[in-house]
Amino acid sequence: MKILVTGGAGFIGGNFVHYMVNKYPEDQIVNLDLLTYAGNLETLKPVEDKPNYSFVKGDIADRPFIMDLFEKEKFDVVVNFAAESHVDRSITNPGLFVQTNVLGTQVLLDASRAYGVKRYHQVSTDEVYGDLPLDRPDLFFTEETPIHTSSPYSASKASADLFVLAYYRTFGMPVTVSRCSNNYGPYHFPEKLIPLMISRALADESLPVYGKGENVRDWLHVSDHCAAIDLIIRKGTVGEVYNIGGHNERTNLEVVKTILKALGKPESLIQYVTDRPGHDRRYAIDPTKIESQLGWKPQYTFDTGIEMTIQWYLDNQDWWKHILSGEYSNYFEKMYGGR
Ligand code: NAD
Ligand code: DAU
Repeated sequence: MKILVTGGAGFIGGNFVHYMVNKYPEDQIVNLDLLTYAGNLETLKPVEDKPNYSFVKGDIADRPFIMDLFEKEKFDVVVNFAAESHVDRSITNPGLFVQTNVLGTQVLLDASRAYGVKRYHQVSTDEVYGDLPLDRPDLFFTEETPIHTSSPYSASKASADLFVLAYYRTFGMPVTVSRCSNNYGPYHFPEKLIPLMISRALADESLPVYGKGENVRDWLHVSDHCAAIDLIIRKGTVGEVYNIGGHNERTNLEVVKTILKALGKPESLIQYVTDRPGHDRRYAIDPTKIESQLGWKPQYTFDTGIEMTIQWYLDNQDWWKHILSGEYSNYFEKMYGGR
């Protein structure tokens, strides 16, 4: 099979490329990424010389480029990770989120349809369901929970999901959608809560906690997300949505305190700052469908996964320090001579 992975120089896409290249040496994995600020080819170092891996630089929203690529490559499967992914950035620049997340998805759908892709998989998020109250721990997001978005980011992801499902209903395209909770693990860009707090704590810098730190996220190790997507592509039913999550709810304050304790740093580094506008209170996934229909089970609890993740950031300081210094953006030039 020839599999197009878009956004494979980002956090989850990069982990997915590692997973697929190593697990399926007989498949060809093509990584298409625009290398925005969030795209980092240093993440692909462990696989860049493998014969079943190749990289293409390009924009999923560039229709002529995408159509040419699909005509040339004849992909069997498309897995779309490429997106603007940071909620805070969507508050300052919503237009870019419409361009990449909505228009880019629609261009990929048109190309997949025109060139007979056998499975189009859309990587989506639990944020499309909005949020849950903090005082109702009995409530969870199921696949039937209505779309009710809060941020420009989640609105753009929900719009993309609706296009994907419309292409199934209208054109009979073989699509699937997955909606996962918050991921953590190796190669996570240090603007997001966990890698931000680890890198700042190691530098003895203050840790900015929004509001009172009471908001709850449902954390899943990125390798459990990759395994779930692999399963959905191979065994999932077309036209269906699958929620992915492992029942690992933590308040932000609990997460930050866990990191400080593991690094032996004082809680006095915590600094409460102005809350995120429209800040979602609680996310919590009900994963019954993917567990019962596809047999998926996460390998990591938050306690085991966060310990390994903190160790990874300690062992791979060059990776995130190159991001903080800006050096990572030269890697494309070094590897591909700017081509
Ligand atoms: P990320 O920001 O780390 O990576 C996004 C990648 O997409 C980057 O490599 C970037 O260069 C690339 N990209 C951006 N615009 C592009 C364009 N126009 N054309 C081609 N490539 C482009 O994001 P992530 O955290 O790895 O998230 C990946 C996907 O998973 C996103 O679709 C996101 O909505 C979804 N998701 C993320 C989480 C999470 O917790 N991080 C949870 C659920 C779903
Ligand atoms: O739920 C899935 C989503 O998880 C994905 O769709 C998004 O792409 C991904 O970025 C993530 O969104 P969040 O907004 O939940 O992640 P973030 O790491 O930005 O924030 C996690 C929580 O921590 C959130 O409640 C806001 C808070 N926070 C975040 C930052 C960056 C802070 O308190 N301080 C911070 O500096």
